[in-house]
Amino acid sequence: MRILLLSFLFVIGLLGSRMTGTAEENDAGKLYAARCVMCHGVDGHPRGIAKGSASFTDEAWKKATSVEQIEKIIAEGRSKMPGFSAKLTAEQIRILAAYVLAMK
Ligand code: HEC
Repeated sequence: MRILLLSFLFVIGLLGSRMTGTAEENDAGKLYAARCVMCHGVDGHPRGIAKGSASFTDEAWKKATSVEQIEKIIAEGRSKMPGFSAKLTAEQIRILAAYVLAMK
């Protein structure tokens, strides 16, 4: 009986991690470093082809920008920024948008 319950919990756990990705895959700092740093800098200051776009530490920009808007830009891209909808899960995009908005 106990073994049945344990296997049941194990399967639920597996399904759960399938749906949302592992902690490693959903680590905001790692995602940002792998996908965004080359254009937006470690500290959120844009460089290279992203120069001229908002700095993620700009409080005025943050106040004027919603997390949904940022999710859309990450997913679809904008002008020279590529979209990431094929490379990142919706969960990862949500995590990155929150990360960008929380940068100081
Ligand atoms: C190849 C370079 C490149 C990469 C990689 C990149 N971006 Fe961008 N990003 C840009 C450019 C260029 C713009 C300005 C787009 C425009 O002019 O409208 C931009 C704009 C943005 C904006 C809007 C800023 C504003 O001025 O309103 C956000 C938010 C953003 N990027 C987030 C991200 C995140 C998060 C990632 C990582 C998943 C990422 N970007 C990866 C080039 C890049």
